[in-house]
Amino acid sequence: MRTQLEQIRQNALAAFASAASTAELEEMRVKVLGKKGELTAVLKQMGKLSAEERPVIGQVANECRADIEKALEEAKTKLEAAALNARLEAEAIDVTIPGTAVEEGHRHPISFTMDEVRDTFTAMGYEVIDGPEIELAEYVFTKLNTPATHPARDRSDTFYTQEDEEVLLRTQTSPMQVRVMEQRQPPIRIISPGRVYRKDEVDATHSPMFHQIEGLVVDEGITFGDLKGALTQMIQQLFGQEVQVRFRPHHFPYTEPSCEVDVQCFECGGKGCRVCKGEGWIELLGSGMVHPKVLETCGIDPNKYSGFAFGVGCERLTMRRFAISDMRLLYENDKRFLEQF
Ligand code: DAH
Repeated sequence: MRTQLEQIRQNALAAFASAASTAELEEMRVKVLGKKGELTAVLKQMGKLSAEERPVIGQVANECRADIEKALEEAKTKLEAAALNARLEAEAIDVTIPGTAVEEGHRHPISFTMDEVRDTFTAMGYEVIDGPEIELAEYVFTKLNTPATHPARDRSDTFYTQEDEEVLLRTQTSPMQVRVMEQRQPPIRIISPGRVYRKDEVDATHSPMFHQIEGLVVDEGITFGDLKGALTQMIQQLFGQEVQVRFRPHHFPYTEPSCEVDVQCFECGGKGCRVCKGEGWIELLGSGMVHPKVLETCGIDPNKYSGFAFGVGCERLTMRRFAISDMRLLYENDKRFLEQF
């Protein structure tokens, strides 16, 4: 039995030292020390020994077990350390490798322009109001003093959503004037930015969807001078203090008098060139004093109050501002183009 025990010890020690993993080591432990293990099997035979032999063999058996357990512990520690080292090596981070750069985006030039216009007016105390893109013809045209026969109502210009031409994709942000005036009494000072839609073919200066910013001021004693002041402020903010501004008579059904506002051509400085088609000036927006009929329709007393309104195309502003010659560039989402701004 003594040789048997000795054999077991030697085999176990050798096996533990050669174990390649903790799992393998555990298998070996069960094989030797487990309930059905080799050592356990031998110890079960102890009962058969004589009274003299038993303490002697017992001591050998105990020493044997202690050695095996110690060897097991050592092998385990060694394997765990090796595993940890391997993991540390595998997971090592090289802090000197250059990182992957995060591409930083920025606002689209149209958003940039719209934000700047909005900031100019909020700084002057205007409130920003949002409104529906699907609108009633009543608000887009009728209440804005636009006769039933007006060409702007034409099916070929306007996306109607119903046969009866009562509902449409708004062709301008001007209906927001009516919506605001119907809901409150002066003083009113608002801008309303948003999308508008017209049946235009896509080309260098047209798109069936574009952006406008509407403005409206109504109070006692508002004059054309206030209109000129507010719009000049906006234009100088966008194009610089030196820019020359021109107010040119025009017609809109909902303003009287009406005007269009031009800036001196950025390309030729007013001499006349291809960009301004020889005019020396570039048209920016429509504007005017709110027509007394419109005030009255919206429940505001035209004898007490007056106001001015304007509507500016944001694509046009953006193109003038950044000298972009083709509107399509603004919608193509080509990064090579957009990155320039
Ligand atoms: N709605 C006009 C357009 O789309 C622009 C405009 C002109 C707006 C005169 C106004 C205004 O508020 O008073 O061309």
